[in-house]
Amino acid sequence: MEKISVKALAKVNLTLEITDLLPNGYHRLDTVFQALELADILDMEKAASTSLEITDGIGSGFQVGAGADNLVLRAHSLLEQETARELGCRFKLRKFIPAGGGLGGGSADAAAALKGLNELYELRLPYERLHSLAASLGADVAFGLLEGTARGTGRGEILEVLPSPHFLKDLTVILLIPEFGLSTPLVYKAWDALPEAERRPARGSSQKLTEVLTASEDGKQNIIREFCRCLSNDLYPAAESLAPSLSVCHKALAEFGAQKVLLCGSGSTLFALAETQRAEKRRRDLKALAELQRYGKVLFTKFSLK
Ligand code: C5P
Repeated sequence: MEKISVKALAKVNLTLEITDLLPNGYHRLDTVFQALELADILDMEKAASTSLEITDGIGSGFQVGAGADNLVLRAHSLLEQETARELGCRFKLRKFIPAGGGLGGGSADAAAALKGLNELYELRLPYERLHSLAASLGADVAFGLLEGTARGTGRGEILEVLPSPHFLKDLTVILLIPEFGLSTPLVYKAWDALPEAERRPARGSSQKLTEVLTASEDGKQNIIREFCRCLSNDLYPAAESLAPSLSVCHKALAEFGAQKVLLCGSGSTLFALAETQRAEKRRRDLKALAELQRYGKVLFTKFSLK
């Protein structure tokens, strides 16, 4: 095999609870990740030397650097060290996932590079080894290897696969990507500074959501309502303390007619869920759509189920 193309799926956190501080300063999480159909595409071709070219598929305006600190190149050099082999590769990354918005695009790209190189060079590294390399690259990279639906603990890298029930197919995910980005470490720092009473609005939500996802699918309307009730993100008040205009974006997305509005990871992207028929109707309402677009870029996608 000389070439391979791998999709790198965006993710949202359906729940994100901060349960503790870890000795290394990281925050211990209990979170449920969900992959989206929105994806970057990473084309890989064997080559004498390694290079990375990035094209912006959606004109997002967010700049992604193609230097050595890009997660694709970091994943590549980690794999070269791990295997003690030269794995020359011409990477072409087509970005569709807005960068810096909490959608895990960079992490998904790194996971795609690990998976792709493993196949391209027939390295036959088992999942466990790829997983530990992924986890060393960043908290969300390990989920990028799995996709689907999974509960993450530790820094988010200890993963338990969850079923992706059929009712999730009926939902459309509406993303609102504000013009301002938010830095992940600063959002976690802002969380540290929150008054205790505002710190844990999501308490218990990951466990409840796990129960809803593993329950039988009788009574679909009820289960969607139950599902939406569990969704929550402890980082929202921290993100809002750094970027007060997030609340205006939140309100605009709620008024667009969505059932639930949440922060993606540490932000700044917000996502909302709506039943697909309703979302399509709203999408055709150009006036309402233009009103929402005043607050940022709007994308419609779906959950990617396994
Ligand atoms: O692992 P990642 O590179 O995504 O994390 C970026 C930063 O976000 C970390 O350096 C840390 O400051 C913060 N973080 C955290 N707890 C987590 C994940 C990230 O404190 N579980």
